[in-house]
Amino acid sequence: MSSLLSNRLTKRILRPAAALVDRRIGRSTGPLRSDLDTLRREITELRGQSYAFSLLFDKTGRNGSRVPTPGQIDTLVRQIVAVTGEDATAARRNVTVAFRQVIALETLALGRLAGSTSNVCGKLATVPLLGPPNRDVLEIGTLYGLFSASLARMLHRAGTEPRLTIVDPLAGSQLQPGTKQAADPTGTPVRMDVVRANLALGGRPGAEARVQQGFSGDPEVRAAVSDRAYGVIVVDGDHSEAGVLADLEWAEEIVAPGGIVVLDDYGDAHWQGVQSATEKHLAGGGSRLEMLGQVSTSAFLRARA
Ligand SMILES: C[S@@+](CC[C@H](N)C(=O)[O-])C[C@H]1O[C@@H](n2cnc3c(N)ncnc32)[C@H](O)[C@@H]1O
Repeated sequence: MSSLLSNRLTKRILRPAAALVDRRIGRSTGPLRSDLDTLRREITELRGQSYAFSLLFDKTGRNGSRVPTPGQIDTLVRQIVAVTGEDATAARRNVTVAFRQVIALETLALGRLAGSTSNVCGKLATVPLLGPPNRDVLEIGTLYGLFSASLARMLHRAGTEPRLTIVDPLAGSQLQPGTKQAADPTGTPVRMDVVRANLALGGRPGAEARVQQGFSGDPEVRAAVSDRAYGVIVVDGDHSEAGVLADLEWAEEIVAPGGIVVLDDYGDAHWQGVQSATEKHLAGGGSRLEMLGQVSTSAFLRARA
């Protein structure tokens, strides 16, 4: 039947009848006419609303859109339950709160959060549910400082006011050895003043964050921030295999017993060095770190107590 209706000959034969129906509807003054007018008005209104919605959520000025599908959120919830052992209600609450924070903070921010909506919400929702053993957080590679500000808020709402340390060269733009980075979609420079403006969105932990400018492999950088055992270390700096291996070896030394190490972009086809370095580091079983699992494109490791 449907092939009969889509047949070109059938269409040509039916065209005069269809035109007649269209003319009748056009001239109609009864209930059909008023239903049509209502529908037209509603569609125009919806189009206007969806345009405003897209200004807030579309990919302009960032790497991708911030409109997750129900399926993506359900997947995050399942993965978080598997990695943290928490129930689905707690996982869904954290993902939802994380999503609201991402939209709110990115709207006010200079620059952007790096990563897809699933990647960012996955990290923000999972870390507090893993119950870090203390309030010290180290982020290696911060770009615009917005992830530290967001994580600070997620930890604070869960009852821990964190103490933040950040390491990044803040070289004007994102540096990635061996790759040529395109101009950032935000058009915002990667600089200390920008990072400070974004950290202010993280409340007192953000305002008081210690920001160490330089590379995580620099001996003076390491000396300056290796003064404590961190409850959370986010590895998101040099994404090459050698860079991630070096950061993991350092993380082994400065993570607190029971502390969490997050490897961003694990399993991301663009950054294969992250996964290969992690697998190399964990192979042989001599590491203090054990793999808890993966949420979106982040791996979560815990230091043995
Ligand atoms: C992917 S971005 C970080 C994104 C940020 N964590 C976020 O979630 O929004 C990587 C950052 O690490 C910096 N970086 C590159 N090599 C580094 C290194 N060896 N030590 C510290 N930061 C490094 C880059 O310049 C860039 O600012």
